[in-house]
Amino acid sequence: MHFLSSNDFSKSDIEHVFSLADRFLEGNYAFVDGGTTLALLFEKPSTRTRVSFETAMIQLGGVPIYIDASTSQLSRGESIGDTARVLSSYVDMIAARMHRQSDLAEFAKHSEAPVINALTDLEHPCQALGDLYTIREAKGRLDGIRIAFVGDIAANTANSLMVSGARVGAEIVLVGPEGYKPNAGYVAMARKEGEVMISDDPRRSLKDADVIYTDTFVSMGEEKEAGRRRKLFADYQVNARLVGYAKAGAAVMHCLPAHRGEEITTDVLDGEQSLVWKQAKNKLLIEKAIMLYLYKNRRKELGYP
Ligand code: CP
Ligand code: NVA
Repeated sequence: MHFLSSNDFSKSDIEHVFSLADRFLEGNYAFVDGGTTLALLFEKPSTRTRVSFETAMIQLGGVPIYIDASTSQLSRGESIGDTARVLSSYVDMIAARMHRQSDLAEFAKHSEAPVINALTDLEHPCQALGDLYTIREAKGRLDGIRIAFVGDIAANTANSLMVSGARVGAEIVLVGPEGYKPNAGYVAMARKEGEVMISDDPRRSLKDADVIYTDTFVSMGEEKEAGRRRKLFADYQVNARLVGYAKAGAAVMHCLPAHRGEEITTDVLDGEQSLVWKQAKNKLLIEKAIMLYLYKNRRKELGYP
């Protein structure tokens, strides 16, 4: 079993992962076999995902091995498939941050070991699970919780959050500029599970929001479009006025890294309603739970007791 897309984890998979995370939080430890290895193959920069995955594997009793793709033979033209075949014959699990979702799928096709999506152009599924877990902690439930994603509603984070969010009963509202469309495939996938509304009007669409979520206006790989995007999304900055449209006490979330004064203001990011630092902290917890879940599944697939 791989975790390449939010679509790979059913509601029951998500609930299992959350219950493992609950157990970790309660102070119950769980370990993988000594010598279990996780390769982290990264084609793009990372602060949180890299360090939280490395720490998570160490806390599980295993060993992480970081590979900067630009210093691997991938940078000299070795194929993705050959790389996956070889790496997965050494290590037990691979977390990969790749430019393209299609490259990650190609990688997983040739991997003997479970592969985890650590972010691509289209998805950030581990982030979404950590964020939903954080919302559940803060609000006590996910069912019926209204999450408004504001700004770049076609971002990888939006795609994953809408699919996993709808799957666990949250209502999703995508709030972005007129004419700027979310990814139709992910909207269709999420709508099979629950409600997804699309709006260009923050005042009206945030009225019943329990959570306001935002992400950078310029994702990694979109640097050439930076100027155009900053203008396009300018009216969708998460600031005190916009937060005021939502329910009293609505939580504010951001996957980070944040660009203070651009997609979110400092007062909101550091304010009382911000769950941002908690959600960043929870990445470690949820990644540990995801890895343990995949590890247990892999052992079952291999017929181990
Ligand atoms: N949120 C997140 O994935 O951050 P990094 O890019 O620092 O890993
Ligand atoms: N959408 C952002 C998320 C960073 C964690 C990006 O892809 O750059």
